[in-house]
Amino acid sequence: MQADEVSRMFSIISRRYDFLNHLMSFGLDAYWRKRLVSLIKPKPGDLILDVASGTGDVAIELARQFKNTKITGVDFSNPMLQIAKKKVAILGKSENIKFQFGDALNLPFKDNKFEAATMAFGIRNVENCQKGIKEMKRVVKKGGLVLILEFSRPNNFITPFYWLYLKLVIPTLGGIFSKKQAYLYLSSSIWQFINTVNIADDLKELGFIHVKKIPLTLGVVSIYIGEKAL
Ligand SMILES: C[S@@+](CC[C@H](N)C(=O)[O-])C[C@H]1O[C@@H](n2cnc3c(N)ncnc32)[C@H](O)[C@@H]1O
Repeated sequence: MQADEVSRMFSIISRRYDFLNHLMSFGLDAYWRKRLVSLIKPKPGDLILDVASGTGDVAIELARQFKNTKITGVDFSNPMLQIAKKKVAILGKSENIKFQFGDALNLPFKDNKFEAATMAFGIRNVENCQKGIKEMKRVVKKGGLVLILEFSRPNNFITPFYWLYLKLVIPTLGGIFSKKQAYLYLSSSIWQFINTVNIADDLKELGFIHVKKIPLTLGVVSIYIGEKAL
């Protein structure tokens, strides 16, 4: 799918996005984001970027765990960002979190600006994965972290159930509560992604050091971390 189609699709499903996320992951998505955020050790005043921020759950979790940091969320779907802004206003976190429209492949920030950059469930939607990671690397300071949370291939007894879940359950629930076509795309994009892309290898190829893959929940998702060399 091309970038403008991806943006349009997320705009269409934005209203029900959070509800379906929690439902389809049995509420585990909140735990996965918590784990992602807990891997960062910022100092007061540090700037943290959340790319493909969507409805802002990672940005909100960053603000929850790190009271004295400044967080910027960037996404190219305005309806997703509108929901993020509302949630942040309700939580009284507008001082710490700002959202900005922008493309992950051409981030609207100068080099070496942020202490860390996160991306949760965004990289598989980006047209060129390595280019997306390279952009995150560009805007992170030397010694800073890039952290990516994404679906991954379990390689254990759960794989056939995972496949069935993706092929049957996700499009069915998507059809009932939102737009079936969008959820058909989402499930096929997950399956294609987990069988073709290796984020840990991409991080290494792009020159990151201390690269780690941390599988969660029997490996259905993983966190990938890389440090930008000094
Ligand atoms: C599955 S949602 C994830 C949202 C959020 N990070 C979360 O954890 O729920 C993917 C988001 O990535 C955004 N996205 C996809 N490609 C993008 C790009 N090239 N630039 C900016 N945002 C992008 C979409 O608009 C969407 O909001």
